[in-house]
Amino acid sequence: MACDTLHWGDEIRQATTDAIPALVSFFDADHICRYANDHHLSWYGRPAESLVGLHMREFLGDAAYTERLPFLDRVARGEQVSFQAPVPHRFGGWREAAIRYVPRMGPGGFEGFHTLVFDLSREQSRFHSVFDGTAVGFWEIDLTAMRAMLEQISPDPSQVAALAASDPMLVRRCLALTPVLGLNAKAGQMFRVDRSAAVGRPLGDWVPDAGIAAWNANLIAYLNGEDSYEAETVMRREDGTMVDVLLSCAFPKQREAEVLVTVGVVDISSRVSKEQELARVQAHLAHAARVATLGELMASIAHEVNQPLAAILANGNAAVRWLRRDEPDIDEALAALGRMISEGARASEVIARTRKMAIRGEQTRAPLAIAEMIEDAVQITQRQVSSLGGTLATRFAPDLPEILGDRVQLQQVLINLIVNAAQAMASGEVDRRDILVQASPAPHGVLIEVSDTGPGLGTVGGEQLFEAFYSTKSDGMGMGLSIARTIVRAHGGTIAAESPAEGGTHFQITLPVTCPRE
Ligand SMILES: Nc1ncnc2c1ncn2[C@@H]1O[C@H](COP(=O)(O)OP(=O)(O)OP(=O)(O)O)[C@@H](O)[C@H]1O
Ligand SMILES: [Mg+2]
Repeated sequence: MACDTLHWGDEIRQATTDAIPALVSFFDADHICRYANDHHLSWYGRPAESLVGLHMREFLGDAAYTERLPFLDRVARGEQVSFQAPVPHRFGGWREAAIRYVPRMGPGGFEGFHTLVFDLSREQSRFHSVFDGTAVGFWEIDLTAMRAMLEQISPDPSQVAALAASDPMLVRRCLALTPVLGLNAKAGQMFRVDRSAAVGRPLGDWVPDAGIAAWNANLIAYLNGEDSYEAETVMRREDGTMVDVLLSCAFPKQREAEVLVTVGVVDISSRVSKEQELARVQAHLAHAARVATLGELMASIAHEVNQPLAAILANGNAAVRWLRRDEPDIDEALAALGRMISEGARASEVIARTRKMAIRGEQTRAPLAIAEMIEDAVQITQRQVSSLGGTLATRFAPDLPEILGDRVQLQQVLINLIVNAAQAMASGEVDRRDILVQASPAPHGVLIEVSDTGPGLGTVGGEQLFEAFYSTKSDGMGMGLSIARTIVRAHGGTIAAESPAEGGTHFQITLPVTCPRE
C-alpha cells in the first residue's frame, strides 16, 4: 500500500496509481518525496512507505541528481518536462527510462511535481526481440549527411529529383553518405556480416551496380514526397555474392526533423530462382513448339526453297545455251546469271528465316520494327496458308512505334495465330478464307490484330482457349496459344480473342513500347 502524506485523492485514485506499471511519485518543492506508488517496491525492492521523506538525491545518487537539475529548474518554473535518462534499479544496475515531471502549481506558486518513470529497457528489449526475431532484415540508416548534400544542390526537392532521374551517379553519392546505424540479426545473416563490422559503414557498400536503379527510384520517391517505396532488386552480401531482395522503405513523416530511416529487406532469392527456372522451362517449351511448327511448315518451306532452286536451274541452262551459240549472246547470259544470283539470295533468305526460328536462343530484348517482324512471319506462313486455300494480307498504319522485344518469340506468336486461322478456315464450311494481319499504334505501344473469316470460336471461353493442352484438332498439341500468351505477357502485353457477330475470329495483341524488368 502506497503512502500519501499530502492527503492525495481518494481510494480509487490511489488504486489506480498503484496499478500503473511505472514509477509514479510526488516530490515537494524541496525535492523531498511525498508520495510513491506501489511500483516502487518492485523497482527499488523497498516498500513505497520507506521512500517517503527521502530527498531525490538519495534516490538517484549525486551524479544523476546533478544531471537532473536543469530539468528540476524548468519544472519549478511551471514547465512540464520529458526526457530520457538512466534510473538506478534494485539490482544495482541502471535502467533506461522515459521520465516526465509535471508541476503542481498552487495559489502560492510551485508546490512540487509529479513524476512518471517508465522502464524503457523493457520496451527496448521487447522492441529488439521483435526487431531481431523477424524474418525481415532491417537496416537503420542516417540521412543527415545525404540531406545536407542534396540541400546544397538545390533547396527544391523536385529539382533534385529531376537531377537524380538524369544523373545515375547522384544516388551513388547519396549511398556513400548514408551510414548504417544498426541492423537486426536477420539482416546480418542475410548479408553475412557482423553487426559490429557493418555499423558506421555507408549503405552503398552493399549496393551493386546491378541494383542501383531501384535505389535511384527510391531516392526519387523520397524527394517527391511519397510515403514509402518498394521494389525488387539485387544487393551485395559482405562476401561479394548477390542476393535478390524485396526492398521497402517507409520515409519519415516529418521530413525536417527525422533523419533516421529503417529499410526492410526480404530475401526473395529462392522465389526468383524458381521464376528463372520456370522461365527457362517455358523457353524450352516455346522452342520445342517452334520446332514442331516448323515441322508442320516443312512441306511449304521446302516448296518455297524449291522454287528459287528450279529458277536457278532454268536460268543456268539458259545461260549455257546463250553462251554456246555460234555467236554467244553475252548480255542474255549475264541477265540469266543475274536472275540466278537473286534467286539464290531468295533461297538463302528462306533458309535463314527458318534457321532463326529453329535456333534455341536466349530471350533477348532489342528495338524492333513491328511491320518488318510481321512481314517475316507472313513470309514463313504464306505458302502454308495458300495450300490450305486461304489468302493472307497485311495492313500497317503509318507511324508504328518501335518496341523492345524478342523478334523470334513474337514471330512465333504470329505464326501460330496465322496457322491456327488457316487451319480453322480449312476445317469449316466457309465462303471466304481470308486472313488479315494489322498493326496500329496504341496508347504506350502497338496493337496487332489477326482476323480470319473462319468458323469462329463457338462456345469456347476466352480463357480456356489459352490454357495449355486445349485443342480441338486431332493432331494439335494445344500449346500454341498458351505459349503465345506466355510470350506476350513476358513482353508486358496482353492477348485476347473474340468471335465477332459477323463471323470469323479476331485476335488482339497489345505490346508496350518497353517491357518490364526481366
Ligand atoms: N482462328 C481460330 N479460329 C477458330 N478456332 C481457333 C482459332 N485459333 C485457335 N482456335 C482454337 O483454339 C485451340 C487452341 O489453339 P492452340 O494454337 O493453342 O493449339 P492447337 O492449334 O490446337 O495446337 P498447336 O499446339 O499445334 O498449336 C485450337 O485447337 C482451336 O480449337
Ligand atoms: Mg496452334
